[in-house]
Amino acid sequence: MVIGIDGPAGSGKGTVTKLVAEKLNLINIDTGAMYRCVALAAIQKHYKLEDKDKIIQLAKKIKIEFDADRKVYLDGDDVSHRIREKDVTSIVSQISSIVEVREEMVKQQRKMAEGLDVIMEGRDITTVVFPDADYQFYLDASVSERARRRYLQNKEEGIEMSYEEIMDNIEKRDYNDMHKEVGSLMRTDRQIYIDSTDMTIDEVVDFVIQKIGEK
Ligand code: DC
Repeated sequence: MVIGIDGPAGSGKGTVTKLVAEKLNLINIDTGAMYRCVALAAIQKHYKLEDKDKIIQLAKKIKIEFDADRKVYLDGDDVSHRIREKDVTSIVSQISSIVEVREEMVKQQRKMAEGLDVIMEGRDITTVVFPDADYQFYLDASVSERARRRYLQNKEEGIEMSYEEIMDNIEKRDYNDMHKEVGSLMRTDRQIYIDSTDMTIDEVVDFVIQKIGEK
């Protein structure tokens, strides 16, 4: 069984998928974290965004793993926190726009889900990775609400970014994520659309589980 959840930055996908995964006993795959790992690996190698070929080779070479606690490992190192920091966040959308990097990540995502019951979140899960996913959702919220959530989340994790910086980053990423050559964030008729602006996390989780139950 595959449940795909797409949506823009800060829409609550991470929190919602984690809770749904726990309640329904599913494997949770955060595909944004995979693009963040490629971005971090490129930073560590001092590659510039123009070094496209080097970044593509790097994406094929690095090892990205998750554990049951949603921890993310890059070549064996726990980078769960590091990949949320400002330098990674500011280039990840451009990194994820490189078509060959996407091809490699999509290949790995399909492989990770093989034979398992998964809930996978990202931007292109319901359109490219698993367009036939059993359950498909598009989780949305207003830009200001998404910036507010991300600001609180960063504060909790000790990541220094002002509200204005976050808002600016989210607006830029929204534009970039919706205008990619391949794998753009899109709404389709197959997705169940959820506007979570005025909903609590629990309400969204209950709604998702109810929709899965209905089918
Ligand atoms: O969900 P996130 O904010 O951690 O994702 C980081 C970036 O990766 C985001 O700007 C868009 C990109 N991304 C993507 O292009 N495709 C995905 N399936 C997931 C994320």
